[in-house]
Amino acid sequence: MKPIKVGLLGLGTVGTGVVRIVEGHQEDLSNQVGSPIMISQILVKDRAKGRNIPVEGSKLTEDPWEVVRNPDIDVIVEVMGGIAQTKEYILEALERGKHVVTANKDLMALHGPEILEKARAKGCDVLYEASVAGGIPIIRTLIEGFSSDRITKIMGIVNGTTNYILTKMSQEGAAYSDVLKEAQELGYAEADPTSDVEGLDAARKMTILSTLGFRSNVSLDNVSTKGISSVTQEDIQYAKHLGYAVKLLGIAERQDDYISVSVQPTMIKQSHPIASVNGVFNAVYVHGEAVGETMFYGAGAGEMPTATSVVADLVAVVKNMKLGVNGRQAQLSYNVVKLKTDEQ
Ligand code: NDP
Ligand code: HSE
Repeated sequence: MKPIKVGLLGLGTVGTGVVRIVEGHQEDLSNQVGSPIMISQILVKDRAKGRNIPVEGSKLTEDPWEVVRNPDIDVIVEVMGGIAQTKEYILEALERGKHVVTANKDLMALHGPEILEKARAKGCDVLYEASVAGGIPIIRTLIEGFSSDRITKIMGIVNGTTNYILTKMSQEGAAYSDVLKEAQELGYAEADPTSDVEGLDAARKMTILSTLGFRSNVSLDNVSTKGISSVTQEDIQYAKHLGYAVKLLGIAERQDDYISVSVQPTMIKQSHPIASVNGVFNAVYVHGEAVGETMFYGAGAGEMPTATSVVADLVAVVKNMKLGVNGRQAQLSYNVVKLKTDEQ
């Protein structure tokens, strides 16, 4: 059986997990798709850097074009982060007929429609399950699981770093800056953690979830965003005293023809299931007109949970290749709807 060849862009927290799963679950993966899956080239910034896993030196390159223009590579797995350069690499890969799996919510929230359009035109897949809520398969659930329903509300904790910080501040009285450092060391935080603590990472994820969930054209500019950097230990303890937990909540609602999306620190009754989502865990509550209330829970960041979603997308791409049905992913751009912004 001819192996499926993968070009991996990035070998940091998530990339390392991807290599571990592809190698560790190889037999099961190849049984599922009918071919071995082989990571044949890996893009890194610094080839000389020490790695947490053994990798053949000959697979590592610092030249992105060597990977995205490699005619032998079938699928590009992008786990390097960044926006402008990364978009160029992905568009080039698609131009050359390669399928793409990405964990990059920054890229998908800002340029998803353009990238997906290009993918459709080229008959390629672009899958991005890991971009929201790490190991929770929420994107697939919104696209497929709720295709029969009309979703009215999506609410949740979609950033692991801030939930980790708020939990430690609440349960251990820990200092904000100490816990942020810990979250960085654990590989949860973004390269620039400002996007975690100022709510931008969560806003980008809510843009993706609300676009898919409401099948409407929601852009990042429409998300009213506030982070946790000004939340104090006193705020948290006072809320606790009143019977509330403080959580960074993303809330997207559809009422009649209007949609509103926000991210902000919110006091939530300790009896509410979302209040007991602690540490790096995420939870997404979805309400649909027909289904009623549903909730999804799991690790929102970190090496192995995130890599689980990335490799599941890889498996889906390869299955589509075998069936010859690539390029049929859901859009990230729908009819323009009225959006309720702060001004209204
Ligand atoms: P890391 O910073 O740990 O790893 C990034 C990797 O990409 C490194 O191997 C780095 O090389 C390489 N890289 C970065 N920039 C370049 C460049 N310009 N040229 C070549 N190589 C480059 O990031 P993460 O693994 O944490 O995150 C990767 C992506 O996954 C991001 O988009 C992030 O938002 C997303 N994500 C992360 C999650 C997490 O829990 N960490 C969860 C969900 C999504 P080198 O090793 O040589 O420095
Ligand atoms: N920095 C992100 C978080 C990674 O903490 O949720 C997962 O997207």
